[in-house]
Amino acid sequence: MSARVAILGATGPAGSGLALRLARAGEDVIVGSRDAARARQAAASIAQRAGSAARVTGMENSAACAAADLLVLTVPFAGQAALLKELVPHMRPGSLLIDATVALAASVGGKPTRTLDLWQGSAAQQAAELVPAGVQVAAAFHNISADALQGDSPLDCDVIVCADEKRARQAASQLAEKIPGVRAVDGGRLENSRILEQITALLIGINIRYKVHGAGIRITGLPLPPP
Ligand SMILES: NC(=O)c1ccc[n+]([C@@H]2O[C@H](COP(=O)([O-])OP(=O)(O)OC[C@H]3O[C@@H](n4cnc5c(N)ncnc54)[C@H](OP(=O)(O)O)[C@@H]3O)[C@@H](O)[C@H]2O)c1
Repeated sequence: MSARVAILGATGPAGSGLALRLARAGEDVIVGSRDAARARQAAASIAQRAGSAARVTGMENSAACAAADLLVLTVPFAGQAALLKELVPHMRPGSLLIDATVALAASVGGKPTRTLDLWQGSAAQQAAELVPAGVQVAAAFHNISADALQGDSPLDCDVIVCADEKRARQAASQLAEKIPGVRAVDGGRLENSRILEQITALLIGINIRYKVHGAGIRITGLPLPPP
């Protein structure tokens, strides 16, 4: 699937890093923000870094939602549910939402090395409860460092994708593999995204202990070698 991709919350390090990498890969990217002017400013900066052929537009989140069939959510957990509720009326029927939200305890004043226990199981499962019927949800990009995305070198990590529907899993995997150095790995059902979120907390602790910013994961022993 190659569609226009809207990244909601793309003024932050994770979303803007994804936007940069996808724009460099030739994707038509919308940078979403709660504020249209901030979105346009971020889009211009990303476009400048991505090269003259880059297609990057900035829009307020609801306009971004209405303009794309492929949505990526990169906002702090504390704002995820409220934002999704606002966006629901603007989502196109049949669109796909890739949720990268991590329910870090830091999003409610706790430690970044811990996650919150959610009734639904994970932030992505919370998202799946909130989107309209017919909008499929995948969980991906939780374990990819924003710092690494912001750089120029190919990445050296896997993106584990969890989803209940094949179409959502395939779309998220194809998008992830547009990023040089990334291999998508099928992580099974959406309920497994709770493990992805906990791995992020673990990686943040590893970053702290090793004084680095870009720790990631690779799964070994698979038939498909990493790129
Ligand atoms: N940083 C990483 O390395 C990384 C890696 C994997 C996953 N993640 C996850 O990806 C998400 C984004 O990470 P980040 O570091 O980019 O976060 P961030 O900088 O804290 O937030 C990203 C953007 O979300 C918007 N936002 C902030 N508070 C909001 C609210 N209450 N409601 C709606 N929008 C809000 C802001 O954009 P506007 O003000 O322009 O609307 C902000 O620029 C988080 O859930 C994080 O756990 C991050």
